[in-house]
Amino acid sequence: MNERKKVTVTELFNKISKNEPITWLTCYDYPTAYFQEEAGIDMILVGDSLGMTMLGYDSTLPVTMDDMIRHTQAVRRGASNAFLIGDMPYMSYQPSVESAIRNAGRFMAEASCDAIKLEGGAEMADRIKGIVDAGIPAFGHLGLTPQSVSALGGFRVQGRGALQAKKIMDDAKALEHAGAIGILLEMVPNRVCKLITENAENCIIMSLGSGPDAHGQLLIYHDMFGLYPKFKPRMAKVFGNAGEIILNGLIQYAAEVKDKTFPQPENYFKIKDEDFEELINLLDE
Ligand code: KIV
Repeated sequence: MNERKKVTVTELFNKISKNEPITWLTCYDYPTAYFQEEAGIDMILVGDSLGMTMLGYDSTLPVTMDDMIRHTQAVRRGASNAFLIGDMPYMSYQPSVESAIRNAGRFMAEASCDAIKLEGGAEMADRIKGIVDAGIPAFGHLGLTPQSVSALGGFRVQGRGALQAKKIMDDAKALEHAGAIGILLEMVPNRVCKLITENAENCIIMSLGSGPDAHGQLLIYHDMFGLYPKFKPRMAKVFGNAGEIILNGLIQYAAEVKDKTFPQPENYFKIKDEDFEELINLLDE
């Protein structure tokens, strides 16, 4: 068991001052959280991407606060020291500052999170401020924001044109001024990400498909291990094909049950001869 110290906001900023990149992964269940904790991953995001990776929806929109809380609790049981971030699902913060504070509070009180994340730029700065004023650390999320995928015209790079890039930079400043401890940049061009990182005064800038010049990197766990059957985004690197290993194992299991090579004696339990004879006698009585 890895006995590392709890990762705190201070620890994350220390890494930035020492120029040590921060590691961040999504996670949605207890066993994966256990492995991520063992591997010393700094931050874990229980993303609303669980709607697609775990629940099989076509988008993140149907995910509820109750779905998020249940999965986040499981992740916390597996990873007690990683910096745990709960992702605010669709319509848990958009309606009002009050809804944002209440639902962020649920992540902290019911799932022992260290922070929350929500999507959106300057228009969400009041939600971030309200949450931070309530004593809850908050991360922003700019660029490709999956909850607005319809308005953005699909899963595509954001900020390629100068005006759009300037808007993302202004949004990043608005979130930082509202008190966000960090901002995730998803599918933003690398030089725009670099500028935002260089301009950040007191804010952790993380990259998902936005290049190497942020303070750290995020990947979707299922993309890293071939566990999402529908597609693999270009920005993801496959670090091992667990999906293929699992599929081959399942095919082999079905074959061995059919040809009766499974189970073998080491896979089941026996009764002593004398106990079995006594049982037969009892049945004959
Ligand atoms: O839900 C999620 O996993 C996310 C990532 C796409 C960043 O928000």
